[in-house]
Amino acid sequence: MVKKNACVFISGRGSNLKNLIQRSRDYNFPIKICLVVCNNRNAKGINYAKKNSIPFVLVDSKFNNFDNKILYLLKKYKISLICLAGYMKIISKKFINKFNKKIINIHPSLLPKFKGLNTYSKILKNNEKKTGCSVHFVTEKLDSGNIIVQKSFFIEKNDDENNLRFKTQKLEYLAYPQAIINIYRYNY
Ligand code: GRF
Repeated sequence: MVKKNACVFISGRGSNLKNLIQRSRDYNFPIKICLVVCNNRNAKGINYAKKNSIPFVLVDSKFNNFDNKILYLLKKYKISLICLAGYMKIISKKFINKFNKKIINIHPSLLPKFKGLNTYSKILKNNEKKTGCSVHFVTEKLDSGNIIVQKSFFIEKNDDENNLRFKTQKLEYLAYPQAIINIYRYNY
């Protein structure tokens, strides 16, 4: 099968990047990760790009030619899907317009609930019964684009932020690959 070229944007730990790299080794998985973009030089996730010989670029989001630099690289590597995985910067309008319906993100809640930051503490404060993760298209409105896949679990009495993160991320490793499959096989 001819795989589409994809790029993953990260800012931190990169466990979703690691998982997507592993999954993309499957012959039937629709994408190949050809580029990693990172805006934090201390991000652990960069090591997954290095270990797997995937080209990566460290960008300074304060640099005013930021968008143009990334757009140039995306063209160079013929990228047709951008996967945000813990990328802590808002994607600009210009960027979203150029890559309409080709940028997806994973968020650690059952959207539309708990958009934005500090998700786990908000979930606990609100005494939610259930939580999970969502993979969605990126639009100009934060964490608001159409949802591609959601996975959920019931919150237990003694769950704290760390447990919630652990349980949510376990589901993220299933949800993100599933969303990519849905986009290419089922034309989402
Ligand atoms: C994930 O939990 C994702 O939902 C959120 O940021 C986290 C990134 O984790 N957007 P990692 O860097 O992939 O480990």
